[in-house]
Amino acid sequence: MSDKKIALVTGANKGIGYEIAAGLGALGWSVGVGAREQTRRDAAVARLRDAGLDAFGVSLDVTDDRSVAAAADQIAERAGRLDALVNNAGITGGGPQQPSSVDPAVIRTVVETNVIGVIRVTNAMLPLLGRSASPRIVNMSSSVGSLARQSGPGGETSTGPVAVAYAPSKSFLNAVTLQYVRELADTNILINCACPGYVATDLNGFRGVRTPQQGAATAIRLATLPDGGPTGGFFEDAGVVPW
Ligand SMILES: NC(=O)c1ccc[n+]([C@@H]2O[C@H](COP(=O)([O-])OP(=O)(O)OC[C@H]3O[C@@H](n4cnc5c(N)ncnc54)[C@H](OP(=O)(O)O)[C@@H]3O)[C@@H](O)[C@H]2O)c1
Repeated sequence: MSDKKIALVTGANKGIGYEIAAGLGALGWSVGVGAREQTRRDAAVARLRDAGLDAFGVSLDVTDDRSVAAAADQIAERAGRLDALVNNAGITGGGPQQPSSVDPAVIRTVVETNVIGVIRVTNAMLPLLGRSASPRIVNMSSSVGSLARQSGPGGETSTGPVAVAYAPSKSFLNAVTLQYVRELADTNILINCACPGYVATDLNGFRGVRTPQQGAATAIRLATLPDGGPTGGFFEDAGVVPW
């Protein structure tokens, strides 16, 4: 096994995930670019390699059991372990998402990717994370899923428009993250949620105000936490996000 740290970033072909891969690569990590579509995946890997980074493509659809199992096999064969898993892939389900008129199918689709996808990938990768000296899991959440912010003063402005599929999917993800933290409390795996801020990407029609590089910073920090660092937290650049 190589001493070089190895990470897997899901949904790394574009947006924030791509910049997380680039940031970890710049720190000297070997980075698996998890992406479901080959052309986009190959293009991202080529861009990262052109920048002198150690990147490799991992065919990965987080909603597909077989795809996720094959991704774990690929990393096992390549490195025998995984040091950081960044569960970044996510969708909004489109809009508008008013609770009174939403199509339940939209909620199912969003939860399948944003929540069950994270569970599927995490469980496939846990044996590999268990072979790392300093394993880290980062779940890309959003402050729009913060129940405290939604119910507090200024909820409308700080947590975006009403979105009954997307926002609760991130609250669900936060809750799921804490269940992993509890189950794995006796291990050395540090597990945290990240909020990237409002970032200009495909996800929001590039209406965000931050760059994908800025949005990647907290996830990179959490993926590279020193031993003894925080676990079971929810962080953005400015500090802790209330649940
Ligand atoms: N942008 C923001 O302001 C913002 C704010 C808070 C949180 N976030 C979160 O940050 C994460 C990244 O979002 P982004 O803004 O960078 O969006 P993005 O540019 O749309 O990127 C989303 C990524 O997820 C991938 N993906 C979607 N479904 C997938 C699946 N089933 N299997 C594998 N990959 C899948 C996409 O792949 P394809 O190219 O194949 O579709 C793409 O690579 C998401 O979890 C999002 O909820 C974003």
